[in-house]
Amino acid sequence: MKILCLSDLHLRSNAVSDFLNTQKTTPFLREITATVAEVSPDVVVVTGDTVWARQVRKLSFVLRKFIPGDIPIVATLGNHEFWERTFEETLTELKEQTFNDKNIFYLDLIGAVELGGLNFVGGTLFFDGSMRIRESQRIDEWDGWQDWRIGEIVTRYLEFNAYYVDMILSKMKPGVSTVLCTHHLPHVLLNGHEPSHYSFYSGMKDLVHELPFDARFENYLICGHTHRRVIGEVIPGFMGVNVGSDYDHLESFVLEIG
Ligand SMILES: [Fe+2]
Repeated sequence: MKILCLSDLHLRSNAVSDFLNTQKTTPFLREITATVAEVSPDVVVVTGDTVWARQVRKLSFVLRKFIPGDIPIVATLGNHEFWERTFEETLTELKEQTFNDKNIFYLDLIGAVELGGLNFVGGTLFFDGSMRIRESQRIDEWDGWQDWRIGEIVTRYLEFNAYYVDMILSKMKPGVSTVLCTHHLPHVLLNGHEPSHYSFYSGMKDLVHELPFDARFENYLICGHTHRRVIGEVIPGFMGVNVGSDYDHLESFVLEIG
């Protein structure tokens, strides 16, 4: 199976509107379209920060503009898609789109989908506090990320984390390879940055070893968020892909399994 990994496309809102309404494209959008066509993948995994929060309701249409309808899409949201409204409102907007295209699988809603003998599991995945650079650091006192835009993040982030960790745990299947797809990092070694400002709110310190991965099988970790490319067996026993796209700079990775 050929899996095309995309992440952090950060499509600008005016470019998305033009693209959907007038077919007008940008060089970046054309590059994405050409990459999908060139790879001709069996599945495309898109791990979040694709559009801005206000365009979450258009996400399915946007994805289908550059990914043909017969190719399954496994997608998570990123922190940018959750900004500006409550967690529940964002998921409601996402859910309304699932009626339109049965071949797009939003892990933030369903937790997992089995395709080609692989169990794609995940969701955006938030922050467990273990990567803060000071022990006492509050997440609302940081000025490097605009996390204050996530409603009630201070009181509710542990609840969000539990939502995702519980969902992942409930969807993992013994005897089946897991492809864990998250926007935020499931392990600190996928960060790609030295411990610094970017360590904050970048993911779980070591979620991987808290989950019941079946060691008899190859398992895979696909993520994004930090805009730094990390590819390989960074964590023993797991093939890791932090795609590493940046604003208007496309990176992708093709994972060939089997
Ligand atoms: Fe992000």
